Amino acid sequence: MSAAEQVQLSNFSNIFSLDGKVAVVTGGSRGLGLHAASGLLQAGCSKVYITSRKKDACDEAVAALNALPSKRPGAQAISVPADSSRMEDLDRLVAEIGKTTDHVDILFANAGATWGEKFDTHPEKMFSKVMDLNVKSIFYTIQKLAPLLEAKATLEDPSRVIVTASVAGIGIGTVGENATPSYSASKAAAIHLAKNLAVELGPRHILTNAIAPGFFPSKMASGLIELKGGLKQLQEYSPNGRLGKPEDIAGLVVFLSSRASSHLNGAVIATDGGAVLKGRL
Ligand SMILES: NC(=O)c1ccc[n+]([C@@H]2O[C@H](COP(=O)([O-])OP(=O)(O)OC[C@H]3O[C@@H](n4cnc5c(N)ncnc54)[C@H](OP(=O)(O)O)[C@@H]3O)[C@@H](O)[C@H]2O)c1
Repeated sequence: MSAAEQVQLSNFSNIFSLDGKVAVVTGGSRGLGLHAASGLLQAGCSKVYITSRKKDACDEAVAALNALPSKRPGAQAISVPADSSRMEDLDRLVAEIGKTTDHVDILFANAGATWGEKFDTHPEKMFSKVMDLNVKSIFYTIQKLAPLLEAKATLEDPSRVIVTASVAGIGIGTVGENATPSYSASKAAAIHLAKNLAVELGPRHILTNAIAPGFFPSKMASGLIELKGGLKQLQEYSPNGRLGKPEDIAGLVVFLSSRASSHLNGAVIATDGGAVLKGRL
């Protein structure tokens, strides 16, 4: 092996490190967002901003994250409550973040909502709410944070946007009594939005990728898991015999934030044990 190849190999030791990176996690107070925030801090981030609507929930999440024994010394989780579906809240969120950092390296655009109700009575108000939060808010969160995402991004060290979609945006979501047409369509739209932004923002050194989780037990998913026959049945249906765990999200978000994924742009990664390939979600 040549000396040059050996130098390259030795550089791989920090390929997943996020040492000193600054991240923002929307919907970060619980569930997938909190798992990701925990992974980001333990991979070396120096600041992770946690945002969701409820102040108490953000503060509680931040207290738990700041007590993590394995986070980088001096690293901080910071609570900035905001409703991602309100433009004035997004402006305030960006202004608040800008008070304590001059740049952002990673945005996990994860806040989302769902609504289950049969086709015939599916309410217009909830259809709009789901589309607004799961699609429009993602776009405007990214648009408003773009100056901070661009501030220190370079060709060699690009910033990252990770959009939470769903396998319901790849296959068909739930139909029947608890149909989720707006959710499924919104997640397909979120995937396509991520692809558009990959092309739009790539030249500005911001890479955009989407993740498509299958079922992960969480406040949002638990009701639907029960309606679909419960944990055991869904575990047995999945080719790998289980549902998602916190480390599955933490690991994927850390990977998509790291040097290891710096040539991925516009990718959609399903994290579902292969369940979507069997056709029924
Ligand atoms: N769990 C799954 O099986 C699964 C599968 C595929 C995709 N997903 C997606 O993963 C994301 C997170 O879901 P989850 O399962 O972790 O659900 P969750 O535990 O219910 O968490 C949702 C998070 O979003 C926040 N949120 C809700 N509305 C918001 C708004 N308007 N503005 C800002 N924050 C808001 C919530 O906090 P507040 O109530 O304080 O606002 C909470 O932090 C969603 O996009 C969801 O569609 C989940």
